[in-house]
Amino acid sequence: MPTPEGASAPTKPYAGAPSSVSVFDALDEDPRLGLANDTIWVTGASSGIGEQTARLLGSADARVVLSARSEDRLAELAEEVREAGGRALAAPADVTEADEIDAAIAQARQWAGAIDHVAHVAGYPLDERLWDSPLHELD
Ligand SMILES: NC(=O)c1ccc[n+]([C@@H]2O[C@H](COP(=O)([O-])OP(=O)(O)OC[C@H]3O[C@@H](n4cnc5c(N)ncnc54)[C@H](OP(=O)(O)O)[C@@H]3O)[C@@H](O)[C@H]2O)c1
Repeated sequence: MPTPEGASAPTKPYAGAPSSVSVFDALDEDPRLGLANDTIWVTGASSGIGEQTARLLGSADARVVLSARSEDRLAELAEEVREAGGRALAAPADVTEADEIDAAIAQARQWAGAIDHVAHVAGYPLDERLWDSPLHELD
């Protein structure tokens, strides 16, 4: 792909680095992303990016621990992942509450033994008006 005018060509961060970091290229190379049997805790798993991340990891043979506040939605998603042949545990938690985080981690450890990776996606999309607001008007 040609470099846009004025932009410098991307450089590799270190010798031997892959020429691309696209997840789709990685999936072509290894549909399990090298994560088979790893346990991954996905926060924000009840919708959006977290939900899709959880589905992808479930199809990659990882054990997926699903957290967010919407218990029903997590239970549905866990069931969906399992029906597709994956392994998933719904572990609801509000990530702003330390005791709920501890409880979700304890659930995950009991289910899988350990957590190998965390995909911390919980959050809320920024309001578009944010970009048009002067800083002093923001909370
Ligand atoms: N969408 C984009 O294009 C984009 C781009 C760059 C960055 N991001 C960032 O990526 C994050 C996710 O975006 P998204 O589009 O996937 O948003 P989304 O669809 O609204 O999903 C947000 C997720 O976070 C969970 N969540 C929110 N507060 C939580 C809390 N206190 N404890 C536990 N879970 C909580 C929500 O679940 P519950 O409500 O069930 O708890 C939901 O699962 C956001 O921080 C966003 O700013 C998004």
